[in-house]
Amino acid sequence: MIKRLNIKINSTTKLILLLVLVAIVFVKCMDNTANKTIATVGFNDFAGSEACQSCHQDIFKTHTQTAHFLSLRKATAENIMGSFETGKNEYFYQPNLKIVMEKRDSGFYQVVYFNGEEKKAMKIDMVIGSGTMGQSFLSWRKDKLFQLPITFFTAANQWSNSPGLPLNKVVIDKPVTSRCMECHSTFAQSISGPPLEPMDFDHQKIMYEIGCEKCHGAGQKHIVYQVQNPTVKTGKYIVNPAKLSRQQQLDACALCHGGNIKKTQPSFGFTAGKNLADYFVIEKGNDEVVKNGNVDVHGNNYGLLIASKCFKMSADLTCNTCHNTHENQRGKKELFSQKCINCHNTKAADFKTPTHVQVNDIEKNCIDCHMPAQPSKSIAVKLQDEDVLRASLIRTHFISIYATENKINKPLKNGKKLVKK
Ligand code: HEC
Ligand code: HEC
Ligand code: HEC
Ligand code: HEC
Ligand code: HEC
Ligand code: HEC
Ligand code: HEC
Repeated sequence: MIKRLNIKINSTTKLILLLVLVAIVFVKCMDNTANKTIATVGFNDFAGSEACQSCHQDIFKTHTQTAHFLSLRKATAENIMGSFETGKNEYFYQPNLKIVMEKRDSGFYQVVYFNGEEKKAMKIDMVIGSGTMGQSFLSWRKDKLFQLPITFFTAANQWSNSPGLPLNKVVIDKPVTSRCMECHSTFAQSISGPPLEPMDFDHQKIMYEIGCEKCHGAGQKHIVYQVQNPTVKTGKYIVNPAKLSRQQQLDACALCHGGNIKKTQPSFGFTAGKNLADYFVIEKGNDEVVKNGNVDVHGNNYGLLIASKCFKMSADLTCNTCHNTHENQRGKKELFSQKCINCHNTKAADFKTPTHVQVNDIEKNCIDCHMPAQPSKSIAVKLQDEDVLRASLIRTHFISIYATENKINKPLKNGKKLVKK
C-alpha cells in the first residue's frame, strides 16, 4: 500500500515541481503590478513605533504626544478619562434604567441596572479616542468587539450616551467593524473571513496606536536593512509621503479622513503609497452639497478641502502643507495662519479688503473666520441633564468666506457683497 503510493507520488513529483516552479515564476512576474493592488500586509511585517525610536528619536518623542498616537489604547485607570466616583459615575436612560461605571477587582465595567437590580456587567477592554472630543469604549466578547453604550464627552466632562445609539434604551450589541479599527489603529489581525462583519480579531495581534507605520508602511524590512547597513545615509524599504504624488499623499490621510468612503477590498489592504481608489469607492466631491453644508465636518476633511478654491486653484496643496502630523499642533492658530500667508500675501493691495483692514492682528488668526468650527451631525451625544443633543464642534476644511455673525456659519452665496468697497 505504502509502496504503491510512493511510486504514484514519484511519478507525479516532476509534474508537481514543474507546476510549483511555474507558479513561483508567475507570482514573481506579477509582483511588480499585483503587489501594488492586492498584496496584504500581516502583523509580522510591522515593527511597532517603539522600534523606530532608536534612529528617529525626535519624531518618536513628539509623535507620542499626538491624538493619532493616543487614539486606541488599553483600558487602564490612566487612559480612561471619566470618573468612577459615586455620584459621578451614573447615566440614566429612564428613572428605573441606568448604567453605572464601576471599578472592580477584575477591571473597569459599564453595568446595567434595572429597578436597582444588576442586569449585565460589560468589561471595558479598550479606550477609543484620544479624548480631544471624547472617548468611547470597546469590549471583547470571545473574539468580537462591541462598542459600549456609554461614552465620555470631554467638553462637558461627563458620561453620555454613545453617538448614534437610541436615547431611551440600552443597546449592548453594537459591533465594532474592521473599518472602525482601520481608522483608529495601525493594524488589527482578523481571524474570520474578510466578507464577514463583524469580524473576529486576534486579541494578541492588535497594534494599538495610529503609529509610524500607518503613514510610512510596514517597517520591519527598513529596520533590518538600516541596521545591517549603518553607513548608508538614505532610507530604504520605507515610504516617505513627501516623495509621493499629490493624490497619493492625500490618499494616505483620506483613508481615515475621507468621510463615508465604501470599501471594495478587505480592511487594512490599503497602505501608504497605494491608490485609495483601488480599495474604496470615493464619493466625488460635489461642490453644491459641500456649500449647502450637507457634508458632515466629522471625518471628512478631505472632501471639504478638495472643494475649496485654495485646493482647486493651486497645484500642490495637500494636508501636509498645513499639518506636521509628527507633532501635536492643536490650537496653534498663529502657526497655521502662517501657512495661509505663504500663499496669500497679506501685504498685497488686493488683500486689503474692508474686513481685513478691521482686524489688527490679522497675521495671527485667519482660521476662525475662514475655517470656523461647526457642529458635527454624527458626533452628537445626549447628556443627562440636557434635552437636545450636544454636538462636537469641528473645524470645517471648506476654506471659504463665512458670515461670522451667523452661528451656523453657512458660507454666503457671494461673500464679496458683504461689504461695500
Ligand atoms: C537602525 C536605524 C533605523 C531604524 C530603527 C529606523 N530607521 Fe528610518 N531611517 C534610517 C536612516 C539611516 C534613514 C535615512 C536618513 C533619514 O532620512 O533620516 C531613514 C529614513 C527614514 C524615512 C525617510 C525615507 C525617505 O525615503 O526619505 C522614513 C519615513 C523612515 N526612516 C521611517 C522609519 C520608521 C517608520 C521606522 C520604524 C518602523 C524607522 N524608520 C526605523 C534608520 C532607521
Ligand atoms: C488610521 C487612520 C488615520 C490616518 C491614516 C490619518 N489619520 Fe489623522 N486622525 C485619525 C483619527 C482617528 C483622529 C482622531 C484621533 C483621536 O482624537 O482619537 C485623527 C486626528 C487628526 C488630527 C487632529 C489632531 C488633534 O490634535 O486633534 C489631524 C490634524 C490629523 N488627524 C491629520 C492627519 C493627516 C494630515 C494625515 C495624513 C498625513 C492623517 N491625519 C492620517 C485617523 C487617521
Ligand atoms: C499621520 C501620518 C504620519 C505618522 C503617524 C508618522 N509620520 Fe512620518 N511623515 C509623515 C509625512 C506626511 C511625512 C512627509 C512630510 C513632508 O511633507 O515633508 C513624514 C516624514 C517622515 C520622515 C522623513 C522626513 C523627516 O522629517 O525626517 C521620517 C524619518 C519619518 N516621517 C518618521 C516617522 C516616525 C519614526 C514616525 C513614528 C514615531 C512617524 N514618522 C509617524 C506622516 C506621518
Ligand atoms: C473613516 C474613518 C473612521 C471610522 C470608520 C471611525 N472613526 Fe472615529 N474618528 C475618525 C476621525 C478622523 C476622528 C477625528 C475627528 C474628526 O475629524 O471628525 C474620529 C474621532 C472619534 C472619536 C473622538 C476622539 C477625540 O477626538 O477625542 C471617537 C470616540 C471615535 N472616533 C470613535 C469611533 C468608533 C467607536 C468607531 C467605530 C464604531 C469609529 N470611531 C469609526 C475616523 C473614523
Ligand atoms: C497652496 C497655497 C494656498 C494655501 C496654503 C492657502 N490658500 Fe487660500 N487660496 C489659494 C488660491 C490659489 C485661491 C484662489 C485664488 C484666490 O482667490 O486668490 C485661494 C482662495 C482663498 C479664499 C477665497 C475663497 C472663496 O471661496 O472665494 C480664501 C478665503 C482663502 N483662500 C483663505 C485661506 C486661508 C484662511 C488659508 C489658511 C488656512 C489658505 N487660504 C491657505 C491658495 C492657498
Ligand atoms: C490650509 C491649511 C490646512 C490644510 C490644507 C488642511 N488642514 Fe486640517 N486643519 C487646519 C487648521 C487651521 C485646523 C485647526 C487647528 C486647531 O484649531 O487646532 C485643522 C484641523 C484639523 C483637524 C482637527 C479638526 C478638529 O476641529 O478637531 C483634522 C482632523 C484635520 N485638520 C485634518 C486634515 C486633513 C486630513 C487634511 C487633508 C485632507 C487637512 N487637515 C488639510 C488647516 C489645514
Ligand atoms: C474677521 C474675519 C477675517 C479674518 C481674521 C481674515 N479674513 Fe479673510 N476675509 C474675510 C471676509 C469677510 C472676506 C470677504 C469680504 C472682504 O473681502 O472683506 C475675506 C476675504 C478673504 C480672501 C478672498 C479675497 C481677498 O481679499 O483676497 C482671502 C484670500 C482671505 N480672506 C484670506 C485671509 C487670510 C490669509 C487671513 C489671515 C492672514 C484672513 N483672510 C483673515 C474675513 C476675515
